[in-house]
Amino acid sequence: MWKVYKSQIPETQTVQQYIREHTDFLQVRDIKPELDVQNNMLEISGLQFDWEALGDSIEESFWRYGSGNEKGYRFVSHDNPTGQPTESTSYTCLSIVHNPKHIENLPQNYSTLGTRMMKGDRYYRGGKRHENDTAVMPEILKDSYYDSWSFTEVTEAANNGALKDLSNECLNRSLIRGRIGKIDSKPVDRNHGECHIADGWHKDEHLLENTRIMIPLITSNNFCLQIKDNPKDYKFELGNAYVMDTHIPHRVIPLDENAREYRIHIIYGTNPWFDYNKEEDSWTSNEFYGKMHPFDMIAAGYYFKQPINTRII
Ligand SMILES: [Fe+2]
Repeated sequence: MWKVYKSQIPETQTVQQYIREHTDFLQVRDIKPELDVQNNMLEISGLQFDWEALGDSIEESFWRYGSGNEKGYRFVSHDNPTGQPTESTSYTCLSIVHNPKHIENLPQNYSTLGTRMMKGDRYYRGGKRHENDTAVMPEILKDSYYDSWSFTEVTEAANNGALKDLSNECLNRSLIRGRIGKIDSKPVDRNHGECHIADGWHKDEHLLENTRIMIPLITSNNFCLQIKDNPKDYKFELGNAYVMDTHIPHRVIPLDENAREYRIHIIYGTNPWFDYNKEEDSWTSNEFYGKMHPFDMIAAGYYFKQPINTRII
């Protein structure tokens, strides 16, 4: 068992970096799942929630905790320190979790959405626009934007109304950085071929460092998720949750760029192998560490508090 207290981590490291350096995490994290999802999607069904009430609550969160005009925030940067979207911004977000010790003291509802230290020439991580782009990281990383595992407190936006149930009573795993995303229609090149960043293709963190549970709350037939080397257009259905290996390039696009529709998904970032203890401000490896892939944990019922069914789609 591994146990790491936040207090023992130096200012120059995130929790993840510290754990990679001081445990055998890097050796064990490339575990292969028994459930062979590959570059497909795992659908989770059977969740019992009041989905209509959740839809109402999330709409309310956007007008109550967003930036105005029922929009959330776009990415915070040196040039946009309050994450204000413009008229044409089609994708805006609210934070699900925040870090009360965040070094930039960002307001909780956009606390995970960027850093004021990010200037045009800096990248959050390597390979951002081109394969050989390197990340330019600030010196202090503990409790910064980059410290994904230090975002552990549920925000007002994710605790609003019926969302309180979903954010606190759905998952058995500790929450880390995640977001609520609202996307409007916007023209995009539908070509599957090249997976250009400019067309929305991107990779998220390693699955064992952040397993993203995607739950649609306002759905629209007009949007689909695409995964590299997979010809399917995934449309999410209300009442289900979805999980994939988000370390494989993927994107969300509108099918009809002229339709005036939007959709809202909540994407809980979860830590599959480490559990957070708030009193101690510590992370401890759990019984699945190095032994069970998150896909198998989900299928075996260790991820959701309710009984669920899973299938690969
Ligand atoms: Fe993603």
